[in-house]
Amino acid sequence: MAIVMDGVSLRNHILDELRARVEKIGLHPKLTAILVGDDAASHVYVRNKEKYAAVAGIETDVVYMPANVDTETIIAKIHELNADKSVTAILVQLPLPAHIDTHAVLNAVDVNKDVDGFTDANIGRMYGAGHGFIVPCTPRGILALLDEYNIDVAGKNAVVIGRSNIVGKPMAHMLLMRNATVTICHSKTPNIAEFTRNADIVVAATGKIKITGDMLKPGSVFIDVGMQRDKNGKLCGDGDFASCSAVAGFITPTPGGTGPMTIAGLMMNTVDLA
Ligand code: GUN
Repeated sequence: MAIVMDGVSLRNHILDELRARVEKIGLHPKLTAILVGDDAASHVYVRNKEKYAAVAGIETDVVYMPANVDTETIIAKIHELNADKSVTAILVQLPLPAHIDTHAVLNAVDVNKDVDGFTDANIGRMYGAGHGFIVPCTPRGILALLDEYNIDVAGKNAVVIGRSNIVGKPMAHMLLMRNATVTICHSKTPNIAEFTRNADIVVAATGKIKITGDMLKPGSVFIDVGMQRDKNGKLCGDGDFASCSAVAGFITPTPGGTGPMTIAGLMMNTVDLA
């Protein structure tokens, strides 16, 4: 039976440490989120971010915009927040409505307030300089979780399933920077099990592809970033927990694994920016 990696405990511990750091240095971090439209999941995510920011001593504000807002209006708001000295971090909740130019919106954020690391400048720093920049919250949180369980990825086979700019691509690069041998699989990969069965670490982040225990190598680390609903409508990950936990050595639960670690990554980024 796999060891279940407890993202909730580690998130709580990280938030306590951040609060101590904020108070000791006398920082005034303020995270402003922009939330466009009425996607129910996005509203839940932003409420969660507000709740846990408060625990870490981070002030928050949310700018709500209607679903029919245009790109220029969002960018004008971001320019206002860039100029506001009280705001130290800006987050644009994704996804934005289809008619919005997401790339233009993300790149309007001042690179020094880019808490998600989604500006081209921060993406470039990650692949280029390799240090001194903000990296996306979910991969950052996952690395913290691997560290907590003393999992060293150097020389290991790591398979990342999913190639999004939010999780898959930065995760693969960050594992590579830690000297893992990294393969990226995605929806067009014909036989994902061929890769995952040889993997010491699997990070699943598709929300679509289902991973079962027979696809994993015994004793491997299974990190589940997926968000799916099971046949009873219950929230679950990309992995079938029962069969995967019978084969893996370490596994993240859903909920309670990578979700709280994304919050931890966001709050670490926010305090770093402040
Ligand atoms: N939507 C899903 N994940 C994320 C994230 O990490 N940051 C933002 N801003 N939006 C998201």
